[in-house]
Amino acid sequence: MTQVKAKAKSDDIPVNIYRPKNPYVGKCISNEELVGEGGIGTVRHLTFDISGGDLRYLEGQSIGVIPEGTDENGKPHKLRLYSIGSTRHGDHCNGKTVSLCVRQLEYKHPETNETVYGVCSTYLRNMQVGDDVKITGPVGKEMLLPDDPNANIIMLATGTGIAPFRAYLWRMFKEDANLKGGSWLQKIVRKNAFGEKPLNPGYHFQGFAWLIFGIPTTPNILYKEELEELQRNYPDQFRLTYAISREQQNSEGGRMYIQHRVAEHADELWKLIQKDNTHTYICGLKGMEGGIDEALGAVAAKDGVDWADYQRNMKKAGRWHVETY
Ligand code: FAD
Ligand code: A2P
Repeated sequence: MTQVKAKAKSDDIPVNIYRPKNPYVGKCISNEELVGEGGIGTVRHLTFDISGGDLRYLEGQSIGVIPEGTDENGKPHKLRLYSIGSTRHGDHCNGKTVSLCVRQLEYKHPETNETVYGVCSTYLRNMQVGDDVKITGPVGKEMLLPDDPNANIIMLATGTGIAPFRAYLWRMFKEDANLKGGSWLQKIVRKNAFGEKPLNPGYHFQGFAWLIFGIPTTPNILYKEELEELQRNYPDQFRLTYAISREQQNSEGGRMYIQHRVAEHADELWKLIQKDNTHTYICGLKGMEGGIDEALGAVAAKDGVDWADYQRNMKKAGRWHVETY
């Protein structure tokens, strides 16, 4: 297997610009609900202003958020990591923001049966526009996009695992469209001519991207309109497959999970995965990994290939990327 250089040169990757002892203090500039009526739980799209400091990041990295307040021992809360959901240029396309996609953790206490809400995800859910937010990082080199604009990108997400893939898709399709339209990116390029902070322009993506997205119900499809608009605008380059667990059934009559979609499309996926310029990314629930391996293991075995070996080689080649939590 050809060794494909998947990642930017490591000295180009921003890491730990801000650490927990000296976090960057940004400001919340929007906090919007992503779950539609009738959906399950609460997932927020949050955007923070980072214009006042040196924080910069790449698609696929994460930042830490330090919630306000103290834990049960009276110590300041520890940071929680969140995948960045915006491109390096940010949702406002000016290099001055970072966005997250955060589900409020809510569960029943196993002994008392009381409803428990997660500390940081609740802090973020309740954050108001104008509030300060302590940010660390960025961190992560596992989920970076390859430089090759002709690469094929397979994305397997459950729930908020969509965050890095939103960043990828926006970088692949939206930024270039803006550039062609003579928009903010051209202005950035022009600004740079006058010596302002350089911003990397578009990706000029020419490859094929396939997102398989697992969510419980239709109103839980995060970024639904935008994803479907991309699919309409780029039908030859972007394929979108949902696994809607509580509305669709797998072949055995159970909940439709992402691994069942992988099994359904296993022949096509396996063909794609074997191309040296295909990169596969998995993000979201840890629980999906076993089922994905099983589905791809079965199809690889038909060609006499041992999936575990094959996957190991892909990891070495930087073509198999996993971030589950
Ligand atoms: P906490 O108050 O820290 O509570 C969590 C604890 O509650 C768990 O450790 C466990 O002890 C307990 N608990 C949780 N569920 C149950 C249960 N069902 N039964 C019993 N006990 C339970 N989250 C996102 O929403 N979006 C992201 O993009 C995202 N990206 C991440 C990226 C990385 C690399 C990592 C490591 C995590 C990511 N997370 C993401 C998860 C995030 O970091 C937090 O773990 C999550 O928001 C919960 O934090 P909290 O402070 O709200 O919960
Ligand atoms: P379900 O909760 O119906 O069992 P969200 O983060 O919005 O809850 O979405 C997570 C999605 O991943 C849901 O559709 C959830 O299904 C599904 N899911 C839960 N457990 C697994 C698992 N082990 N493998 C794959 N998908 C899973």
